[in-house]
Amino acid sequence: MLYEPKFYKCSKCEAIFEVITPHCCDELLCCGEYVELIKANEGHGLEDKHIPVVKREGDNLTVCVGRVLHPMSKEHNIVWVEVKSKYFEQRVTLKKGDDPIAMFQVPEKVPVTVFAYCNIHGLWKISA
Ligand SMILES: [Fe+2]
Repeated sequence: MLYEPKFYKCSKCEAIFEVITPHCCDELLCCGEYVELIKANEGHGLEDKHIPVVKREGDNLTVCVGRVLHPMSKEHNIVWVEVKSKYFEQRVTLKKGDDPIAMFQVPEKVPVTVFAYCNIHGLWKISA
């Protein structure tokens, strides 16, 4: 990955913004207020249900969110999963009620960072 992407969230409408260039002024507005920078979690005791588990078979990359699959209820769910490398970015938006599993096509030797966003517990990531 060339740089760590930055994610922001509007505290009013809960919109998520991803900055895709490294030179960001960090002063983004939504609903009349500055949006908050979201830091990706890698631990904190909730990792069993949030850290993406990555399985690669050739160019097929499967992401299961959580060693114990994360809930996908109306109130608490994984909203999206994103795979990012130095060369590309792919995102799958998940539906409530589905399993928190997403599949991607990624050349097998390309290192990636995988992000998963929980509507309650925020952003999680792992490198694979
Ligand atoms: Fe969660």
